Amino acid sequence: MKRTLGTCYYPEHWPREIWAEDARRMAEAGLTWVRIGEFAWSRLEPAPGAYDFDWLDEAIAVLGAAGLKVVLGTPTATPPRWMIDRHADMLAVDVEGRPRKFGSRRHYCFSHEGYKAECAQIVTRLAERYGRNPHVAAWQTDNEYGCHDTTISYSDAARQAFRGWLRARYPGQGNDGDIEALNTAWGNVFWSMDYDSFDQVDLPNLTVTEPNPSHVLDFHRFSSDQVVAFNRLQVDIIRAHSEAPIAHNYMGRITDFDHYAVGADLDIASWDSYPLGFLEDRVPATTDQQRDYARQGDPDFQAFHHDLYRAVGRGRWWVMEQQPGPVNWAPYNPAPLPGMVRLWSWEAFAHGAEAVCYFRWRQAPMAQEQMHAGLLRPDGSEAAGLDEARQVATEIAEAPDVSPTQAPVALIFDYDAEWAWRVQPHGRGLSYFELVFDTYRALRKAGLSVDILPPDAGQLEGYALVVAPGLMHMPEALKAALAQTSAVVMMGPRSGARDATMRIPVPLPPAMPGLDVTVRHVESLRPDTPVALPAGGHVRSYRDVIDGSAEVIERAEDGLPAIVAQGHLMYLAGWLDPVAMGRAVRMACERAGLATRDLPGGLRCRETGAETFWFNHDTRAHEIDGNTFAPLSVTRIPKP
Ligand code: GAL
Repeated sequence: MKRTLGTCYYPEHWPREIWAEDARRMAEAGLTWVRIGEFAWSRLEPAPGAYDFDWLDEAIAVLGAAGLKVVLGTPTATPPRWMIDRHADMLAVDVEGRPRKFGSRRHYCFSHEGYKAECAQIVTRLAERYGRNPHVAAWQTDNEYGCHDTTISYSDAARQAFRGWLRARYPGQGNDGDIEALNTAWGNVFWSMDYDSFDQVDLPNLTVTEPNPSHVLDFHRFSSDQVVAFNRLQVDIIRAHSEAPIAHNYMGRITDFDHYAVGADLDIASWDSYPLGFLEDRVPATTDQQRDYARQGDPDFQAFHHDLYRAVGRGRWWVMEQQPGPVNWAPYNPAPLPGMVRLWSWEAFAHGAEAVCYFRWRQAPMAQEQMHAGLLRPDGSEAAGLDEARQVATEIAEAPDVSPTQAPVALIFDYDAEWAWRVQPHGRGLSYFELVFDTYRALRKAGLSVDILPPDAGQLEGYALVVAPGLMHMPEALKAALAQTSAVVMMGPRSGARDATMRIPVPLPPAMPGLDVTVRHVESLRPDTPVALPAGGHVRSYRDVIDGSAEVIERAEDGLPAIVAQGHLMYLAGWLDPVAMGRAVRMACERAGLATRDLPGGLRCRETGAETFWFNHDTRAHEIDGNTFAPLSVTRIPKP
């Protein structure tokens, strides 16, 4: 399959007279896909029940006539103003109990039945009308679930739905649920929090002090399930009318809902990649690293999400929005260095992306995103990104296709663990995402290609090394699979620290078959009190203090075990800083028979079936294995 390019276009923003010329220019630049429609509800249904599809018919016809394939978005991220008059209580409510207002986007609560019925209506109309349109070659549901902190809502609708969800989770006789089962699971005897009925259970906000962690974790799980159900509602409707694949565009470091569960209902995972936009607020990196990569983006952050969404899409994934120039929404919005738009595009392809679409075709002269670059300027003249897109299109046409292959290393990423850490970080700012990302970065610095896996016991076949940091709750099936695999397994810290209801399990953690390690107690560390390791680097942030007969491979300066192993199982008894993590990764690879490299700066590689792709994110050249990699370059080296 040849890789393809596309762009995001808003025909409703521009006079009809220029659509054909826009379409011609897109095709001429070598683009295949054009995504439209995802924010156009007020023009598709200007008044309740009064539809206007003529303009969209024409836009699709014009784009299709130019040879472009349309990705049609459902407009449910932007309910029109009249919707609020019909359903005043559909707005999501923030943690302080304040309804969020109309005037931007994503102003809805996933639990509101009236709003869901409206969504079903508009999606039905679209699917009936365009489901067999020859130019509509894919669909996108909604836009960026969870963006702007919108997964969790403390509304009345959410409260009602949460009670129903709890009744099903703690089932009793009939439909009523077993409130004693909930009291026991949550440990509500503590602080006299027992309930007599599910109707007494409220949402876990505005409590005097910290709410019960079991309550909060269940609320996270419920909120995630609401997103899954909302998406499924749309998917079921579209599938009844169309055979085109359905995607959703996920985001960078948005982890409030279980993307694997949403992805299970879709054909393609896609994500929106803004390497410079993410740098300041989402990438776990030092200020120096952020400065060094201000115009290139972090060398691992995009790759991490490429690998994550390949798992979410079960192999099929795209970049639905690729930053083509400066964005408007980050704390600082520099322009990318020349060559980076091309590099980002090829990096996605090297990780298996089927398509990369640039956001957006033309910079908007109005409203919130005036300062966001497009491939064109507001007057239609070419912006810097277009040339690079064109170059990538030519290269795709001329070069051999990418041949994806299984990586030697699997890294498990679990959304439920992310919520458990969030509910109970144990130290200020401690984050599961950051622990996993630190591990991923160390693997990539060692020159390894990585597959990310869900915490699913069934997928470990064929890996030499399986890495599973911070899985706070480990189902028995996963423990058994890790105990039995022929791969080397590197787990910890905080593995199996809680059971499914967020209680400390007995026997004490990690209770891992084949590994004689018991966590005696845990501690979190101030940022300025890391504990040194004699071989270099530190344990920082979080520590398991362990007992047991597993072989101690490294002790910290205070004598406590930091890295232990027994058979194929390794346990990290703390959060290792980059120096120590690099060493732990090399040890694990040695045990697994995997060769490692020590990649300098922002040089990274990715193996495919036939080649090694090299990406130099730095403004200086690097040399390794006898090859020189120019600044900001993409190099494809065929395998011998
Ligand atoms: C994305 C979003 C787009 C646009 C873009 C700007 O998060 O899906 O609609 O807002 O950001 O960078």
